[in-house]
Amino acid sequence: MEKTLVLIKPDGVERGLIGEIIKRYEMKGLKIKAIKSVFPTRELAEKHYEEHKGKEFFEELIKYLTSGMVIAMIIEGENAIKCVRNINGETKYQDALPGTIRGDFAYKDTYNLVHASDCKDSAEREIKLWFE
Ligand code: CMP
Repeated sequence: MEKTLVLIKPDGVERGLIGEIIKRYEMKGLKIKAIKSVFPTRELAEKHYEEHKGKEFFEELIKYLTSGMVIAMIIEGENAIKCVRNINGETKYQDALPGTIRGDFAYKDTYNLVHASDCKDSAEREIKLWFE
């Protein structure tokens, strides 16, 4: 079974969308194997987004992820990485299709409610980082 790391970011928590978001993964048949709330430190946020270091939106991204409570989850299932990313929708709100989490609820740059690992190597690295 494949595992992936999913975060409900501070805007998702603040807007009261935790239940709505988790429901969508569960309705698909994916399993929540671990779940916790975290107030990310700058160090954790920088490690999580290390591939974006140097990009013009990096500072805003770190500020965003450290601005409030985050729900971190390990989600498991067959092809969990791809399935979760399909449920989340495209990164940019204007590209995300209706029926996806971002398509239905995101309407602001950067503030896209959720994060999910993009491949097996990222999943392994991110699960270690958030669930030491
Ligand atoms: P996420 O899927 O967590 O991966 C990287 C995050 O950076 C992304 O969601 C967005 O929140 C943010 N992001 C990606 N591209 C841009 C961009 N061009 N401008 C601002 N923020 C971005």
